[in-house]
Amino acid sequence: MKYFYAFFALAILATLSIFGFRGDKSAKPPFILFPDMDDQSKFKPQGSSPFFADGRTDRLPVPGTVARGFLREDDHAYFGKDGEEWARGFPMAIDQSVLDRGEEMYGIYCAVCHGGTGDGNGVTRSRGMLVTPSFHDDRLRDMAEGEIFHTLTNGKGLMGYYRDKLSAPDRWAVIAYMRALQRSQNGTIDDVPPSARKELGL
Ligand code: HEC
Repeated sequence: MKYFYAFFALAILATLSIFGFRGDKSAKPPFILFPDMDDQSKFKPQGSSPFFADGRTDRLPVPGTVARGFLREDDHAYFGKDGEEWARGFPMAIDQSVLDRGEEMYGIYCAVCHGGTGDGNGVTRSRGMLVTPSFHDDRLRDMAEGEIFHTLTNGKGLMGYYRDKLSAPDRWAVIAYMRALQRSQNGTIDDVPPSARKELGL
C-alpha cells in the first residue's frame, strides 16, 4: 500500500507538471526537445537574400530552359516564318481529317464575321462590322499561309486573336479550310475531274 501512495503522489506530480502550466504565457521561445528543422531562416518569394551575389531569393531559370510542352523549334509551325519571310504552304500534310477539323473550327470561330463561304458577310456585318474582308480578294488569296497564321495567332484590327482558343495545328487546319473556301469560289473547269464534268452538265 505504501508503494501505491508513493506512486499515486508521483502520478499527480507528473500530471500537474505536464498539464498544470498549460496556458501560461512566456516571452521565451518554447522548449523543443527535438528541433529537427522547425526553426530556420525563411526567405519569401521575390524577397532579398544576402546569400546570392545578385541579392535576390528567386533564382532565374538556367538560360535556354523551356517549359515542358513549350518547345517551339519549328518557325513555320509556330510562327508562320521561313527565315525573314512569311512561310508559304503548310507545316503538316493536309488530308480530309484536317479539312474537317478546319471546317468545324471555322464554323465555331470565324463564320460569325467572315461568313460561311468566307465572303465577309457573317451576321456581324448586319450589326455594323463593315470592315470584315472577303477571303476571295486577290490580296488574301495570294497572302502567304504564314502571314494568315500570324493574324490568327495575334489578331488584327477589330479581329481578336485565337492563340488561346485554337492550338497551332487547329489554326493551320482553319487556314487549310480557308484555302478550300477560296478555291470553291474561284474554280475553273480544270479543277473538275473529267469523270464528274458530266454531272455538272458540262
Ligand atoms: C469579330 C469578327 C471576326 C472574327 C470572329 C474573325 N475575324 Fe478575321 N477579320 C475581321 C476583321 C474586322 C478583319 C479586318 C482586320 C483589319 O484589317 O483591320 C479580319 C481580317 C482577317 C484576315 C485578313 C488579315 C489581313 O492581313 O488582312 C484573315 C485571313 C482573317 N480575318 C481570318 C479569320 C479567321 C480564320 C477567323 C477564325 C479563326 C477569323 N478571321 C475570325 C473580323 C473577324
